[in-house]
Amino acid sequence: MEEISTSKKPDGPGIVETYKGLIKKEFIQFVEENWKEHGDTFKLNLGFRSLYFAMHPDAVQQINISNSQNYDKLKSYDVVRKYLTGEGLVASTGELWKRQRKLMSPFFTPKGVQEYAEIMIQDSIEIADRWEELAQTEEEVEIGEEMMRVTASIILKSMFSSEIDEETLEMKDCVEYMIKFATTQQQGLYFPDWVPTKRNTKYKESKNKVYKYINRIIAERKAIPQDQWPEDLLTKLMLTVDEETGESMSENLLRDESITAFFAGHETTARTMSATWYALAKNEKARKKLHEELDRELGDKTPTVEDLFKLPYTLMVVKEVLRMYPAAPFYVRDAIEEDVIDGFKIPKGAAVMLSPYFTHRHPDFWENPDEFNPDRWAPELEKERHRYCYHPFATGKRICIGNNFSLLESQILIAVLAKKFDPKLRSGYEPEWEMQGTLGTKEGFPMRIERR
Ligand code: HEM
Repeated sequence: MEEISTSKKPDGPGIVETYKGLIKKEFIQFVEENWKEHGDTFKLNLGFRSLYFAMHPDAVQQINISNSQNYDKLKSYDVVRKYLTGEGLVASTGELWKRQRKLMSPFFTPKGVQEYAEIMIQDSIEIADRWEELAQTEEEVEIGEEMMRVTASIILKSMFSSEIDEETLEMKDCVEYMIKFATTQQQGLYFPDWVPTKRNTKYKESKNKVYKYINRIIAERKAIPQDQWPEDLLTKLMLTVDEETGESMSENLLRDESITAFFAGHETTARTMSATWYALAKNEKARKKLHEELDRELGDKTPTVEDLFKLPYTLMVVKEVLRMYPAAPFYVRDAIEEDVIDGFKIPKGAAVMLSPYFTHRHPDFWENPDEFNPDRWAPELEKERHRYCYHPFATGKRICIGNNFSLLESQILIAVLAKKFDPKLRSGYEPEWEMQGTLGTKEGFPMRIERR
């Protein structure tokens, strides 16, 4: 670590300029302007606290790996913890996080997630049937909604063995409202929780419904013999026992981990898939190469998990989408003690924002960073790159536990759908990217489903 006494203070706009910028401009655009003006390490002064930005891959390495003991999910995660994930893995800390991560990791290994491949394949076939009808009508769809529906179905089946019916759709809407509420609550612009505004009441009702739904599923399982429990993630969590204490997870923890997996896993993968259809529609060369691979390796056959190993270009497309359009464009860590990043002083307690979105477009590490080019993921090129210039799932001990689940799901959806369909973007449409908790666009992606 560098000497703290010799370090400089990071540059950045003053408080008035920051608020003016944040009101007038989209967050991503404002951050980009500051990055260009102040360099890789800068700060935004919010008055009550400052946000420090660290865009360089060396900083990604320092915060997540070499000095990770100095960073945790503290104050910056209070809102997510309070309104959404409770004690679930995304925002838990200390011994609880360590124990839960150890207990849950085996279910999310590349091999472990293959248990859910059949669900992913069947749901992809179901959406392909739906697209068959849409292709006949030539009706325009919002591809984001299509993808939200299928990823919600996949995670709900994987988690609870629940089919998509009226009740699960309501539960999906309720969790989505909780996510929206927690995201906007971060801005601190609303009445306190106890004021019965429409917004607060809707949040409380949504949360009650979700809690009731999950508690009922757990109670129903407990009422029947264990050997009759369905083979899903919830059963795995219910049967897991901590070797040291001999304890299994409490009902509250089971509920919090279920909501967390739904929250962390469904919208992010849906965003990645929507960006994939957009990127393919805009890039004929990539689209052709993908179609060639799928036709050559699959013919008319529905892919199996084994087939995915024969589809390297499909995976390269997903990796490139996650580079240019990472569903989680930012994540934050709180500094436990003072640190020095890139020669700049980071005070104790500071919130440090890491940004896959901008590190992935850093011109010192990426050739033509604004060009969508899956070929950059050829193994020999990948090897030459800075190890930490790519972190769509974060990295280090708190790397996304669901990354293998999501990569498998994305590959299967592309393999099944792109083999038959070629969605076309509305002519002349240019998306306006913006932060919506995850990376979204103002008006989604209006597309027409065309048969290839
Ligand atoms: C393309 C899809 C996905 C992306 C881009 C993504 C991205 C991320 C990122 C950046 C983090 C770190 C967040 C932070 O430190 O604040 C994270 C953590 C996490 N993700 Fe994902 N994720 C995806 C899919 C999934 C899926 C499918 C699941 C579950 C089924 C999942 C579950 C989690 C959990 C539980 C954590 C917290 C891990 C911990 O702190 O130990 N994610 N994800």
